[in-house]
Amino acid sequence: MSNSNGMVLAGSGYCLPERRLTNQDLVTQVDTTDEWIVTRTGIRERRIAADGQTTMYMAVEAAKSALADAKLAPDQLDAIIVATVTPEQPLPATACLVQAELNAGHCAAFDISAACSGFVYGIVIADRFVRHGGYKNLLLIGSETLSRITDYTDRSSCILFGDGAGAVVLQQSPDAGRGVLYHQLHADGKGADFINVPGGGVRHPATAQTLADRMHYMKMKGRDVYKFAVMRMHDLIRDAMANCNLTIDQVKLIVPHQVNQRIIDSAIERLGISPDKVYVNIDRFGNTSAASVPIALHEARLRGRVDRGDTVILVAFGAGLTWASAVVKL
Ligand code: UT7
Repeated sequence: MSNSNGMVLAGSGYCLPERRLTNQDLVTQVDTTDEWIVTRTGIRERRIAADGQTTMYMAVEAAKSALADAKLAPDQLDAIIVATVTPEQPLPATACLVQAELNAGHCAAFDISAACSGFVYGIVIADRFVRHGGYKNLLLIGSETLSRITDYTDRSSCILFGDGAGAVVLQQSPDAGRGVLYHQLHADGKGADFINVPGGGVRHPATAQTLADRMHYMKMKGRDVYKFAVMRMHDLIRDAMANCNLTIDQVKLIVPHQVNQRIIDSAIERLGISPDKVYVNIDRFGNTSAASVPIALHEARLRGRVDRGDTVILVAFGAGLTWASAVVKL
């Protein structure tokens, strides 16, 4: 067990369902307009999983592409971590189902439930496994089928969410200066009712009544989440840069949770950061919770905005409430 190792990004991938749900589609379902959605959120369309496409399915597709990029066989993995709030089923962990689909042998496999912060929680856990636990190859996936818990009669929330998965293969490196250089992981359970799904767990198991009361759909206090997210996003980025003595020139890219264009704009404007330092794709994919950061990271790589060896800041916040940051030298 050495603590002189670091962690590198060996590969990345994503899976985005074909089907697009545009603002115009939503106008036919709820009392809203394209103009309202674009000005309040920046979202123009989201991807929606087809029947039969699930959190596990998208996780496996994203994983295959990340493994191919890393030139790694599934049976070389030491651990599979899936961050999700829309697991394939309550039991067992989606990561175990992904492991079986990939034929990844008997490596460790478990899920993280930290909502939109799940991927950032996961990369910090992966870094600790690699740095101090002797793990050599890890697969970290954020995968969500939010359309299955979105209430398409609630105009204040259904406009936000989309489906998808992003995955990274993380590998042990002899260079201790690579990997997670700094992080913050936090939660405030007193804000649990800001975003929640009240039904379907052991407090309110599924009954005809919970179904009639639409308790299996996500409930959200949008304004409260908005204020929380603006503040956290600003504070997390400022804190990460200050603690790592980073100037903005030393940061290749900030990859935030794709929460709302206005939240991202407001935070970076207060920090005096130029928008070209921040990766945003919310206009095309909406908010995909734990999948949003890895989808954005992979797309940023595909577009040449970031690559191995670059320093990035990942920031996320969401249900729990949870919030997290990681400064990562990829
Ligand atoms: O990963 C974390 C997940 N959660 C979030 O990302 C939520 C963060 N919050 C937000 O993104 C914003 O709060 C929303 C986009 C959800 C709402 O935007 P807002 O500017 O905070 O609007 P609001 O909730 O203050 O509502 C303003 C008005 C209300 O009407 P009245 O009461 O002023 O007459 C709402 O009923 O806008 C109305 N409204 C809508 N109107 C047209 C709410 N949703 C819609 C809609 N179309 N889709």
